[in-house]
Amino acid sequence: MPRVNDIRYIGYGVSDVEKEKRFYLESWKLEEVPSDDDMVYLVAPGSTAGYSVRLRQTDEPRIDVISWSAKDRAEVDALVPQIEKAGGKIISQPHELESLGGGYGFRFFDMNGFTTEVSTGFETREPETLEAGDPRPEKISHVVLHSPNHKGYVEFYEKALGFKVSDWLGDFMCFLRCNEWHHRLAILPGPPAFNHVAYDVPDVDAVMKAVPRLRETNGDIAWGPGRHTAGNNVFSYYVTPAGYAVEYTCDLEAVDDETWEATVHKPSKEIMDQWGFGVGGPETMPKPMPDAGLFKDIGI
Ligand SMILES: [Fe+2]
Repeated sequence: MPRVNDIRYIGYGVSDVEKEKRFYLESWKLEEVPSDDDMVYLVAPGSTAGYSVRLRQTDEPRIDVISWSAKDRAEVDALVPQIEKAGGKIISQPHELESLGGGYGFRFFDMNGFTTEVSTGFETREPETLEAGDPRPEKISHVVLHSPNHKGYVEFYEKALGFKVSDWLGDFMCFLRCNEWHHRLAILPGPPAFNHVAYDVPDVDAVMKAVPRLRETNGDIAWGPGRHTAGNNVFSYYVTPAGYAVEYTCDLEAVDDETWEATVHKPSKEIMDQWGFGVGGPETMPKPMPDAGLFKDIGI
């Protein structure tokens, strides 16, 4: 079955680009990528993708694009009819992309209306190898989205982009993979909204060593540090100046993509956080609000 194989980048619209950029450079430790347009491009130092985050000046915060990669042109082409059949609305047919880093790809609105891109053959970069304990992000690890019909949304991502369900938390949170990593996408109930983006850091020391830097430059942890059960990953959530949740994570479980069978974890405090000593909880995370960018593609 044709499928995507990783996350390429997330494009955000924010009302104060300079402030958000400062956060990503000074607090989050992404690096700026030069460009000719008026948007800001930032990359996680350990990433092979040319950039991880794109920021654009807008009146209100919105998600501009969620960009996934696929293995080759044939896979990109084959995804189009599959997405249409699953109920996605194709915005553009596969073509040579004019956005930074190029590539061959297309866009569609997912079931919620998020502008979603699939591409291949885009420019990559030589990643920096981060040492153990380096409190900087390697790459995007996963994205989490809400949907008013979260079970239908899971099915959409299975049928449209070839995701496989790795685990459920009760009947409300679903973790989905598109490669050997336990999840690259997770889905929650709620309004059609973005929940957070997680970035891999090298290890638990890195997660912990980042805490004072974030506290001093941006604010305290919103939830964590802790260790989830589904995926077994360590987490520490923060909130950007524009109000978006971001996570430093490590130790995400690698699974056998072919044979891994989903478990339904019974929701409890200990399942959500095996350690249970950190700041806050799900209730201290930003409240999901319907995204302002739904069904509005900006064309770049
Ligand atoms: Fe997460």
